[in-house]
Amino acid sequence: MRVNGAEVAASPRPGQCLRTFLREVGRLDVKKGCDAGDCGACTVLVDGAPHHSCVVPALRVADRDVTTVAGLGSPDDLHPVQQAFVRAGGFQCGFCTAGYVVTASALADGDGQVASDDLDRLFKGNLCRCTGYRSIRDALAGRTNVDDVGGFGCSVAAPAGPRIVTGREAYTLDLPDHDTLHAKLLTSPHAHARITSIDTSRALALDGVHLVLTHHDAPDVLYSTARHESRLDDPDDTRLLDDVVRFRGQRVAVVVADTIGLAARACALIDVEYEVLPAVLDPEEARAPGAPLVHGEKPIMESRISEPLRNVVAQSHGEIGDVAAGLAAATARVSGTWQTARVTHAALETHGARGWLDDDGRLVVRTSTQVPFLVRDELALILGLESDRVRVLAARVGGGFGGKQEMLVEDVVALAVVRLRRPVQLELTREEQFTMVPLRHPMRVSVELGADASGVLTAMKVDVLSDTGAYGNHAIGVMFHGCHESVALYRCANKRVDAEAVYTHNPPSGAFRGYGLGQVIFAIESALDELAREVGLPPAEIRRRNAVVPGDDFVVNGPADTDLLFGSYGLPQCLDLVEAALARGDGDPVAGPDWVVGEGLAAAMIATIPPRGHHSEATVTLEPDGSVEIGVGSAEFGNGSATVHVQLVAEVLDVDPRVVRLRSSDTDAAGHDTGAYGSTGSVVAGAAVVAAARDALAQRGDGPVTTTIVGRGRHDGSPRSVAFNVHGVRVAVHPATGELRVLKSVHAADAGVVINPEQLRGQVEGGVAQGLGSALYEEVTLADGAVQTRTFRDYRVPQMADVPPTEVLFADTVDPLGPFGAKSMSEAPFNPVAPAIANAVRDATGRRPHELPMSRDRLWRLFHADPSPIEDGSA
Ligand code: FES
Ligand code: FES
Repeated sequence: MRVNGAEVAASPRPGQCLRTFLREVGRLDVKKGCDAGDCGACTVLVDGAPHHSCVVPALRVADRDVTTVAGLGSPDDLHPVQQAFVRAGGFQCGFCTAGYVVTASALADGDGQVASDDLDRLFKGNLCRCTGYRSIRDALAGRTNVDDVGGFGCSVAAPAGPRIVTGREAYTLDLPDHDTLHAKLLTSPHAHARITSIDTSRALALDGVHLVLTHHDAPDVLYSTARHESRLDDPDDTRLLDDVVRFRGQRVAVVVADTIGLAARACALIDVEYEVLPAVLDPEEARAPGAPLVHGEKPIMESRISEPLRNVVAQSHGEIGDVAAGLAAATARVSGTWQTARVTHAALETHGARGWLDDDGRLVVRTSTQVPFLVRDELALILGLESDRVRVLAARVGGGFGGKQEMLVEDVVALAVVRLRRPVQLELTREEQFTMVPLRHPMRVSVELGADASGVLTAMKVDVLSDTGAYGNHAIGVMFHGCHESVALYRCANKRVDAEAVYTHNPPSGAFRGYGLGQVIFAIESALDELAREVGLPPAEIRRRNAVVPGDDFVVNGPADTDLLFGSYGLPQCLDLVEAALARGDGDPVAGPDWVVGEGLAAAMIATIPPRGHHSEATVTLEPDGSVEIGVGSAEFGNGSATVHVQLVAEVLDVDPRVVRLRSSDTDAAGHDTGAYGSTGSVVAGAAVVAAARDALAQRGDGPVTTTIVGRGRHDGSPRSVAFNVHGVRVAVHPATGELRVLKSVHAADAGVVINPEQLRGQVEGGVAQGLGSALYEEVTLADGAVQTRTFRDYRVPQMADVPPTEVLFADTVDPLGPFGAKSMSEAPFNPVAPAIANAVRDATGRRPHELPMSRDRLWRLFHADPSPIEDGSA
């Protein structure tokens, strides 16, 4: 075949798909998102027609012309479609972009525009998890969203844009293969079992198999896959390979071989005998007396598990005031129980890492991570190495959303490299991504509210049960965070919160955008909406009457959080903006007389930085030739921090952003950085970068730069501010079928001073799209503890057709706690979306959804059951 005009001499192996063949011959711009024909990341042109190369047999392409995204143009000579994606800012992480550009190139006119009113169908085969599709639509329509010139406060284009749209930007595994070996995981078929014997001899006998690792080879170190600044934030309950398996999908053995296929064949030859143990799959049953214990043998103090003999990894019980008296005094009371679902991040780039030893014999791991420094430290601990003997780096990360705040493949790769002293790579398949990677914690949340006749809260009672699955990674943080800003948002003299995160033998839950808040907010904002109906107040008004205001403490069920401050306060503006936008009555028309229409809104508060320290050290180097280089440890995974850091430094130094280069996410190239989570890219790493730029400026003084100047800065993430989001929707519901359509979606964000309007709008739209997916479609289903939804086809990531436009509005606030008045935002927009939609369904139909996702079948049952089983308390 000819690839990008050049003859390819190599021949594919029998049965090999075009995607893997193209990567083997060096076309690393062809991406993998699913290898099942579902996502479009691998799209190439075959004789000018777009194809998903992962489902095309390479041999069928013999003698034909293949064009990849790199064959369409180069950063210096962009194809019109590539120019359009740069001008529109039509990407975030950019992992899907090659597929969009290639598909669009076959449909576009000479100006790079796809003039069609049927984009939903034309791009049905291309998924984007980051953007919410608006900016992609803009690119296809030829709209310009970025500013050619301009600095702080302008929509400066992402510096990596020309490389992303041409396939030149390297992601984690976009490296030449050389002599890299490949690892494959054998996983448990049982929800709970003890490995009584494991025989690897038949696997090792295969020619080309170099290593098989089992629990006999694993260091005797317990840790958590979750990564936080303090490793003590998570329980030590995980071993690299264990002799007890606690969920279907847990690693049992690792094979390292010349090829992935060979490693997979060798996995099938490992003989494992299990003693199957009783399993508990229901979180309520898990904490009942006599339940099978998930980590019952672990000591409390060393493991930091709250009650291993009750399967409780974390708990919080407390009351302020007198809730019983508050409820007794109330003139209106509402109560209910809400249930949320397991959701997968669906970052298009799966977890993957490659490791090797450098010339000094140091371990190097290149991985798809949000937290390179924290991974380095834990790898050193597990392997018994000094941390300066380990280097961890991330290239551009193809989406994270919290999922890459876990260490899921790096430990295996590191151990294999140390044992073999050869490069080793492990890349999860999409199916493994569904079955092994921690999911959003499903929570059951009961809420009871009381209010006086004017709608002022007299009592607030919240009970949370979180299913953390087989391991407690992020269980503690997600539970506490979930209950914190959701409850602290409302001033009420009498509050009680009881929360427990429990182990089960289900797949683990972990960090995910919103970090528990979305689940609890779904319940509280639904209950508050019902309370507003009881007392006859508009939904925005009951929030105005009860939300905390500057001067109030942030209180949940104990002493106030004194590190959290009102740096600024944009909630009233957000409520006003959403109310006014809904009142305009614009949006899509109702489809017909069988549909009923309702409106709803919900509010959310979030701390701008995670608690207990989030640190970043940065450098800004000024060179005599006028160039500027930022060194910062934070990773770019579509959150836009790379662009923001350049803008911040350009603002301090008063230079053109185009002269500023960025080196990031490499433990050798920058000072310590806790990592890119909790929306800290702007407010922690950004603040450190600003401090470094100011230091450089002070060293330079008024004169020109005559010698290299290195400015240094740091930020320690304290004190923290609060940000607010309000989401509003108008929906049409078809009671006969359960179908729901969003007619109008509006989101107001209190982001402080907006550094880059287009990027911030994109972060909000992406968060809203993920919120919409969780609200309406997405659910990882289990049967007897085994994941049933193992492909994108079975699990519905919102497609272009599913995501309505969202009007994005910003409150006008300046936050003195953030750099140049900015707050954080990436995480927060997700949180109020599901309750806003649920409240709109209630408004339209008189029936209140209590379960996520509000899928068509669930809504149909809600409309046709009497009463709804969960409302009734019988579910
Ligand atoms: S990787 Fe080919 S369609 Fe997803
Ligand atoms: S930009 Fe589309 S998947 Fe990240």
